[in-house]
Amino acid sequence: MKVGDTHYRSIWFENGEVRIIDQRWLPHEFRIVTLESLDDFATAIRDMWVRGAPLIGATAAYGVACAMARDASDGNLAETCEALNATRPTAVNLRWALETMQTALRPLPVGDRATAAFAKAAAVCDEDVETNRMIGVHGLELIKDIAAKKDGPVNVLTHCNAGWIATVDWGTATSPIYQAHEAGIPVHVFVDETRPRNQGALLTAWELGGHGVSHDLIVDNAGGHLMQRGEVDLVIVGTDRTTARGDVCNKIGTYLKALAAQDNGVPFYVALPSPTIDWTIQDGFDIPIEERGGAEVTHVQGKLADGTVTQVQISPDTTGARNPAFDVTPARLVSGLITERGIAAASPDGLAGLFPDRAA
Ligand code: MRU
Repeated sequence: MKVGDTHYRSIWFENGEVRIIDQRWLPHEFRIVTLESLDDFATAIRDMWVRGAPLIGATAAYGVACAMARDASDGNLAETCEALNATRPTAVNLRWALETMQTALRPLPVGDRATAAFAKAAAVCDEDVETNRMIGVHGLELIKDIAAKKDGPVNVLTHCNAGWIATVDWGTATSPIYQAHEAGIPVHVFVDETRPRNQGALLTAWELGGHGVSHDLIVDNAGGHLMQRGEVDLVIVGTDRTTARGDVCNKIGTYLKALAAQDNGVPFYVALPSPTIDWTIQDGFDIPIEERGGAEVTHVQGKLADGTVTQVQISPDTTGARNPAFDVTPARLVSGLITERGIAAASPDGLAGLFPDRAA
């Protein structure tokens, strides 16, 4: 998508180097960083210079490619994948990308692996872009249906950032929104701020503003109130891992939005690229939930009047914090799963029906 007049992806290969947008500084500063060593890639994922399930996977794929350029041995391939897989536990796209790279590279002679690895990483990125574009094509139909039945904009609530910088391009939850906007369908987005890291306030609001999409930032607790007042037509969120039966793991707070949506008859959809499906798990409570440091809760990041981006403490010095980064929304609360192949019911038959080639 465009930043100013320039079209960017969130990760790209240029002049023999892997570049990313360093998301820690958005929306205040737009910084591009080059990743080279395994430590660079692992740090970028773990410390959330890049984040969002699909982008984590794409970054790991390029991490493997760079590692193969230095040492394409079986041992280094295994060690690299093990190190990258340990960076963040919840988004299954990470495991998917590493398995995809290993499956492509292991059968090859060592001398052919580096070139093949860069080609495969590029293909992972290109597939992600097309997958998300198709999620938008299918999700657009939901927005069109609502638009046909009401005057004024279609009001969509989203949580966290499942936008183009959480993927390689388009985003998952935002792809239908961008496509509706481009088609001239009036759409307005309620952006949950998404504490503790405020991905909504910092990233989704930046994205939508950059593309001229009407939006309001809301505090995390406002969504239920707006739904009670009939001000939300549709909820679309992303996911870090969805089980074969349609239990959805996403950013902490998603579950509460799903409960409020059900109580108020608001459709609750999840944008789900197929690499985010974990076919090995049925029960969402078997998904490992990342617990991050308490400082993300006791502090917030913001920009001072002099332009400095800094952390500010908001709680007493002695107060501890728990920081589970994701929660699980049971399939029964999900109206549908918007995939690249169409919209599936959140049920074992729903996903297996669309992906018979992948279902176990
Ligand atoms: O902790 P984050 O910022 O990586 O969490 C991101 C999310 O929860 C997104 O909703 C999810 O990865 C889907 S991104 C298309």
